Amino acid sequence: MWDYTEKVKDHFLNPRNVGEIEDPDGVGEVGSLACGDALRLFFKLGENKRIKDVKFKTFGCASAIASSSALTEIIKGKTLEEAEKVTNQDIAKYLGGLPEEKMHCSVMGREALQAAIANYRGQEIKKEEFEIICKCFGITDKEIERAIRENDLRTVEQVTYYTKAGGGCAQCHPKIEAIIEKVRKEMEKEAPPPKPEKRKFTNIQKIKLIEETLGREIIPALKADGGDLELIDIDGNKVYVALRGKCSFCPSSEVTLKQYVETKLREFVSEDIQVEEVRP
Ligand code: FES
Repeated sequence: MWDYTEKVKDHFLNPRNVGEIEDPDGVGEVGSLACGDALRLFFKLGENKRIKDVKFKTFGCASAIASSSALTEIIKGKTLEEAEKVTNQDIAKYLGGLPEEKMHCSVMGREALQAAIANYRGQEIKKEEFEIICKCFGITDKEIERAIRENDLRTVEQVTYYTKAGGGCAQCHPKIEAIIEKVRKEMEKEAPPPKPEKRKFTNIQKIKLIEETLGREIIPALKADGGDLELIDIDGNKVYVALRGKCSFCPSSEVTLKQYVETKLREFVSEDIQVEEVRP
């Protein structure tokens, strides 16, 4: 017996928006009865191009019914641009979570929505354009790649949970493994570089570093322009300074402090540094 949340049970026992729309603006159908899960989604737009009515018919398990019901509640009232941003994770989150083995139900909901929006826009999603990787369930490379990306999947078992691919004869497992490897390499390349770890200093180390940076990087540059700077005090990340020489009456002294002195101290000491001017 699956460990379903109360919300999953509620949407399974009392599914919202079940049925058909007679004259829909968009219809999407995914899955097949032969594979054990199928979902047909209909929507109708209102005057302001928001989804006014949405209905579904599904054949599947409790989580397929609950996911479809949740999807209809999530997208009602949304524009198509807003609706197409809904992910399978949003559906699972709305239900308070789904057992990982049942995540393919949330993926099926998202795919039906995409198919219905494509239908409204007159676009045809041709499965033939993609390679069918899992013949048992008719799952394409595109579907597997997308599930890996959107759900951060790492194993064939997870791909099966999220797409059903690989859940039959297992002949497609080597191909799924190859796709996982390819997509994860791409994801690593696309990931932003990790932020450098924040350096941790004792108070004494921080004061020394601020003094050194002022003496090495900042004061010589100010002096070269006829100005100067005096360190008055340091309190945590606040550095109190007084501008001297030409800098003390320069109209852009505020800019010098923030864009030059503070930026340099942040670069060499800590990104939390704040520089404050002490006026006589
Ligand atoms: S071809 Fe994928 S499980 Fe059979």
